Order: sequence, then structure tokens, then C-alpha cells
Amino acid sequence: MDVMTLIDGKKVSAEIKEQVADEVGKLKKQTGKVPGLAVVLVGEDPASAVYVKNKNKTCEKMGFQSFSHTLSADTEEKVLLKLIADLNANPEVNGILVQLPLPDHINEHKVLEAIDPKKDVDGFHPVNVGTLTSGGNALAPCTPAGIIEMLDFYKIDIEGQHAVILGRSNLVGKPMASLLLKRHATVTICHSRTRDLPTVARSADILVAAIGKPGFVTPDMVKEGAVVIDVGINRVDGKLVGDVDFEQVAEKAAFITPVPGGVGPMTIAMLMKNTLSAFKKTNNL
Ligand code: GUN
Repeated sequence: MDVMTLIDGKKVSAEIKEQVADEVGKLKKQTGKVPGLAVVLVGEDPASAVYVKNKNKTCEKMGFQSFSHTLSADTEEKVLLKLIADLNANPEVNGILVQLPLPDHINEHKVLEAIDPKKDVDGFHPVNVGTLTSGGNALAPCTPAGIIEMLDFYKIDIEGQHAVILGRSNLVGKPMASLLLKRHATVTICHSRTRDLPTVARSADILVAAIGKPGFVTPDMVKEGAVVIDVGINRVDGKLVGDVDFEQVAEKAAFITPVPGGVGPMTIAMLMKNTLSAFKKTNNL
């Protein structure tokens, strides 16, 4: 078979972060201001705590102002909503990210709707979701936006291709479909109730796995020469593995993302890019 290309998310994300940091430096000289990102964490989930720490560290490295708010797991919803209202009103804050999942007693929809859409760097507010699905230019969710950047970096055709997305989450599956449609792909979303999922997956030119099941995608579900994007982050025996059986699927794919080092590093790069976009828009830059 033809040679397989490993999609290097670390390399692509490093380039994006460098471009963003350069622009932040220039805008600081021009305006005296830098973009600010507020990250809100409710509770002590260790994985979430690691993500949040990384986001703050990246902000500092890239010349952004960083605001970090850690609230205890039993925080009342109204306290969180008040914090969001304060961040909405703070002119130094251009982006607000509330780390998900939230504790069960807090209504996630209500919280996401409380964020000013102009500061919604996750692209989860219904206004931004609606703008994106109707083909407009909204802040787009970071993980699927990062996947588009990776496809472009490797000059992978999207237009007219059949993209099959495994998973229908609001964080990845649905916005991934919107972004791929915007780029003129033919899009199918599969989920737990899909009949004969392997047959559908096998018809994909671009297969995006975002279901959270380790090793779910096996070679029989992959067309020879397909592009395989693995969004899964599963911990198995202390090791990070994706939704794709990498070793075996790599034998059939033309392009494949590893886990770790594939989609993961792109998410934070896109978060910084979205925060810069929000800053520029607010300041008419
Ligand atoms: N939890 C897992 N991924 C994400 C993300 O992209 N944004 C937020 N806010 N929470 C997450």
C-alpha cells in the first residue's frame, strides 16, 4: 500500500501558537493591550485541573493575560452565574472558558448561555452555534476547528469528500459536522443507535472518531487510503489511548492522528486563536 502520513498535532499547534504569539506581541506595541482569557473550574476533577493549569501556563508563555477561577465542587449555580456576569463586564477579559463537565447540580445549558457570546471562546453559546450552523463566521469550538487546521496543514481535500463523524456531542461531533459542511464535504454523523455503523464508517474518505471508547475503530471500519482523525482521550491502565486501534488502522489509512500528540495539542492552540479573534473584534483591530 501507499505510505501512511502521521499527522503531527504538536508541530501544527506549535506553528499556530507561534503565529498567534507574534500577533499578540505586535498588537501590544500598537495598542498597549493584550488579550485576556478567564478559565473557570468547578470542582477537583484531576484531569480537568491539569487542562486548566496548562491553559494558564500557555497564556503566560504567549503573552496573554490569564484569569483563573477555581470554585469548590459544591458551589451553588447562582455563585457561578455571578462570576460569569463579572467576567462578562470586565473589559480586560476577552475570552471566558468554563471547563466541562460541571457538577450535576449545575445546569450546563444555563451556564453556557450566561457567557457573553462575544467572549465565548469555546463556541458553545447557542448564538455562536446558530451562527456557525447557518454558515456565518462565529467563534468555533476549539477541537473541531483544530481538526480543520490539521487537514489544511497537510493539504487534505475536504470539498466533495465523504466525512463520517462517529459521535454526536455538542463539543465535537455536531460542530465538526458544521465546519466540514462549510467546507463542502458530504457529512454523515454516526452514533450509538446507528444501524451497521462499520459499513457507514467504511465509506468515509475522512473518518473522525469522537465517541470515547478505546480502540473502537478497527481496520474493518476503515477504507484503504482514508484520513483517520482520532479525538478520543481514554485512560487505559494509566496509558492514554484514542478511539482508534492505531497500530492496525495505520496499515490502511493514508493519514492518521496519534494519541497523544494528534488532536489534543490543537485544542489549546485554537483556544488561544479564538481569544485573539475575540480581542481583535472587541477592539476593532
Ligand atoms: N472539557 C473537555 N473539552 C472541553 C473544551 O473544549 N472546553 C471546555 N470548556 N471544557 C471541555
